[in-house]
Amino acid sequence: MNELENKNVLICVTGGIATFKIVEVASRLKKLGANVRVVMTKAATEFVSPRTFQEITRNTVAVEMFKDAADFNVAHITLANFADVVLIAPATANFLAKAAHGIADDLLTTTILATVAPLIVAPSMNTNMFENPATQENLKILANRGVKIIEPATGELACGISGKGRLPEPEDICEEIVKFFAAKKDLRGKKILVTAGGTVEPIDPVRYIGNRSSGRMGYEVARAARNHGAEVILISGRSDLEPPANVKFVRVETAEQMRLSILDEYSAVDAVVMTAAVSDYRVKHFSTQKIKKSAQSIILELVKNPDILKELGNLKKSQILVGFAAETENVINYARGKLVEKNLDFIVANDVSAEGAGFSVDTNIISIIYRDGKMENFPKMTKAELAEKIIHRLTNFLDARFSGQ
Ligand code: PMT
Repeated sequence: MNELENKNVLICVTGGIATFKIVEVASRLKKLGANVRVVMTKAATEFVSPRTFQEITRNTVAVEMFKDAADFNVAHITLANFADVVLIAPATANFLAKAAHGIADDLLTTTILATVAPLIVAPSMNTNMFENPATQENLKILANRGVKIIEPATGELACGISGKGRLPEPEDICEEIVKFFAAKKDLRGKKILVTAGGTVEPIDPVRYIGNRSSGRMGYEVARAARNHGAEVILISGRSDLEPPANVKFVRVETAEQMRLSILDEYSAVDAVVMTAAVSDYRVKHFSTQKIKKSAQSIILELVKNPDILKELGNLKKSQILVGFAAETENVINYARGKLVEKNLDFIVANDVSAEGAGFSVDTNIISIIYRDGKMENFPKMTKAELAEKIIHRLTNFLDARFSGQ
């Protein structure tokens, strides 16, 4: 069977020198069995005639809001509903800006706003335009909403300079579409709770005990779980990151607030992934006034915070529990101890003193340790890549639980 049989792909073509490559994209997608419709901006029609796409797709090509779509009732809604996935290629800087900010001033951008189908965007433009902070910000906004961005290639550009901004080759773009349909939504119907970031324990109105967690590891785990189709609750301590779109987001400050928010959800979730760096101690007496600088030294009395994960381990029914262990020595032994003590299904150990691992960096180096003593070691990877690995392992546990193993 053709890989894209019965799949509906809406291609949105904006005006750029690479527009001609999309003719081949449309042709390849058709050959793979997809139903393809094309929407073009007026600028795109300066590069390729709508008739070309019409011949290839055997469908009317829509360009203008109230004109070309004679066979559609309300063109943008019909097109928006048609799509299983929307490919925007080439995507100009202007398109990215409009999409990021919800501007809908032509048929193409109105369709994008009206669709609930996932978006795959292939930017293509001059290097300076691509690297401009405005474009980068817009890409970030879109990526955070779950839009898949196909990175432009580096090479000779139409403007004569060499750099990043080339539209990838048609086969690579088609590969992304095939990958999209092949990607398993294996967590559909599952509810996953993820914690992230560091908790903050106030000392007085201006000071606190905190830690260096950026939230990255946890936000990537939440994003990966969402991408696999799970309903995700992200409970986050302090972090400057924008939460991933389409997850239920709960902001907390202290360990106790995090504990209460988790307990609120715990009975209804299938799994918890606890990446948050929870403060082990808080001050015994919070000072309602700023502590004045007078004595040469002061003593803050600290009391233990509740161990949230241990409590979850005690209350556990059918939930899969995944913990993290942030260690600087004896990493695997300490992690094994926590795995058992907190009644976890598996634990992710990271040596937070290693270069490129742990707090506040984009990468991590982890080992996953299981109850039966098995262990998997991963080389340095981005936190996004590792989040995929963790979610994959978690999915295996959930599958085993549901199949009664
Ligand atoms: O946020 P980033 O900058 O991306 O950094 C990622 C990270 C280093 C924070 C992450 O990879 C990590 O290691 N998270 C766990 C941090 C931690 O608190 O580890 P721990 O070994 O102290 O705790 C073990 C487990 O118990 C953790 O899952 C923790 O969430 C949990 N815990 C700890 C203390 C406590 N009072 N309650 C808990 O539930």
